[in-house]
Amino acid sequence: MTKPDYPRILVTPPGPKAEKIIALDRAWSSPSYIKAYPLAMAGGKGAMVEDVDGNRYIDFMAGIAVSSTGYNHPKVVAAVQEAAGRFLHICGTDFYYETMSRLCERLGKLAPGKGKSRVFLTNSGAEAVEGAVKLARHHTKKAHLISFQGAFHGRTYAAISLTASKVKYRAGFGPLLPEVTHMPYSNPYRGGDPIAAAKEVFERTLSPKDVAAVFMEPVLGEGGYVVPDPEFVRYWRSFCDEHGALLVFDEIQSGAGRTGKWWACEHHGVEPDILLTAKGLGSGMPIGAIVAKESVMTWGRGTHGSTFGGNPVACAAALATLDVIEAEGLANARKMGDRLMKGLLKLQAKHPCIGDIRGLGLMVGVEFVKDRGTKEPDSKLVEELEQRAFRKGLLLLSCGKSVIRIAPPLVLTEYDVDAGLGILDECLAELKH
Ligand SMILES: Cc1ncc(COP(=O)(O)O)c(C=O)c1O
Repeated sequence: MTKPDYPRILVTPPGPKAEKIIALDRAWSSPSYIKAYPLAMAGGKGAMVEDVDGNRYIDFMAGIAVSSTGYNHPKVVAAVQEAAGRFLHICGTDFYYETMSRLCERLGKLAPGKGKSRVFLTNSGAEAVEGAVKLARHHTKKAHLISFQGAFHGRTYAAISLTASKVKYRAGFGPLLPEVTHMPYSNPYRGGDPIAAAKEVFERTLSPKDVAAVFMEPVLGEGGYVVPDPEFVRYWRSFCDEHGALLVFDEIQSGAGRTGKWWACEHHGVEPDILLTAKGLGSGMPIGAIVAKESVMTWGRGTHGSTFGGNPVACAAALATLDVIEAEGLANARKMGDRLMKGLLKLQAKHPCIGDIRGLGLMVGVEFVKDRGTKEPDSKLVEELEQRAFRKGLLLLSCGKSVIRIAPPLVLTEYDVDAGLGILDECLAELKH
């Protein structure tokens, strides 16, 4: 087999064509966009991204854990083209089409646990979170919501009210939703006793009986790719059972095969009452879902809806994506996840700035510290690493205070893993010496 023709840097990015796009964008787009580094995309294939100047990168971030099947998987592209050639819209809230019903069935059957589930389709993760807040309150007739320090649930009002990963997502946007308490999340690397802290809150300020729902990411995403202690996840399941609250797993980042199982919660052996998915579900086409136990999805006709949610082209993309994940993504996420983990452990042995490596499948966090003893986060190093890796042909993305999240397309190859790790190694050697 011939060696892949990437990564390749023909001109230090941003090249002249990228510069033009960036200038246009800066003139007209909202200043709230982040733009992590000056990548102006032209195309991609598998875990390779090509920019408009012909540079090619290995992709360790999949457009923030979205491009699960790569950038143009032939089966997904064919499904999108076929669906687009028939009709672009009719509104699934009011009318029927087969792909929408089939996707609901498929997700309902994939839901963790034995009981029957029902499915509401959305355009985004935040819309799924928003709908789940409404469903939880409507069903339980209670108001109070619990989420966690470090959580990210999206940018709409209910979602930012639950979010607690960075203060800038909330600052200046109040008043937010009332009746939200943020509890500490489990962090095996940094320690603490989050269950004791929660019990303290229930003793002093919040009656457990008032809680409608607990929103939890089974692996913390934006907050630092933290895999919680399963005991912590189990505690919240039994809390909900005891007090008549719903356990909502936000699997928008961790789900749809990313961890080598359909849902990250399967690693913990804990079932939610409501599961939220989006991101990788449609390989980049905008689609998400609220998957709830039938006994919980009790809202009546017309109480909730969406003009675009479950768009027919997006449904076709999701059905094809689920096929690809089932056929190759799940097994590959486990295999490549192992390879990645082994390679990262070797890097950790060489580079003292790597404090912790954790993850499941292809959802892996690498935490950088100034000193392994004090565990002081080294956010400056992470910023420099992200930029330097980009200039060498590796796409990384940070999260938390000083973590690189590795969330590549689930179809990446051994070559991609090894070549990406090689660039990471080179960057760390340069940054530290
Ligand atoms: C765990 C989690 N929930 C919700 C969201 C929001 O999804 P969206 O950006 O599609 O609204 C995200 C996005 O990063 C996420 O990671």
